[in-house]
Amino acid sequence: MADITLISGSTLGSAEYVAEHLAEKLDDAGFSSEMLHGPMLDEVPAEGIWLVISSTHGAGDIPDNLLPLYEALCEQKPDLSLVRFGAIGIGSREYDTFCGAIDKLEAELKACGAKQVGETLRIDVLEHEIPEDPAEIWLGSWHPLLRNL
Ligand SMILES: Cc1cc2nc3c(=O)[nH]c(=O)nc-3n(C[C@H](O)[C@H](O)[C@H](O)COP(=O)(O)O)c2cc1C
Repeated sequence: MADITLISGSTLGSAEYVAEHLAEKLDDAGFSSEMLHGPMLDEVPAEGIWLVISSTHGAGDIPDNLLPLYEALCEQKPDLSLVRFGAIGIGSREYDTFCGAIDKLEAELKACGAKQVGETLRIDVLEHEIPEDPAEIWLGSWHPLLRNL
């Protein structure tokens, strides 16, 4: 199993690009990673470290490619007590439901017993034209936390 499972939810690609960029940075820092864009519940390991990166669509909605996983978490409530996760949201402050998707995902992961490592990063694309930049800075303070798990 890879050290870190990156899980992305994206409609137009930004969150996927951020996930791929962070996978490279994790590799540079000596972590192996597996990349899953919009996986089903049975494709994600029920243990280990997840890094969930999701944009928001509709009105605070989860991207279509991550909806099956989110719904499976809500309906099946799998035991994720062996999962530790980090969370990054991408959205726009133009919307009242800024980064609503990552908030929903974070709440549901915790409801399934997963424990969060670090604070959720919420990237405003109005402020950051290149979301990889704040994500990379956040990663620099997140991955050292993993050494203490
Ligand atoms: C139709 C539409 C609805 C959106 N709704 C929200 C929203 O409710 N909350 C938010 O924070 N951002 C919202 N956004 C902004 C997107 O999250 C943002 O553009 C993001 O970069 C898209 O990422 P993606 O390329 O991974 O899909 C919306 C964008 C579009 C086009």
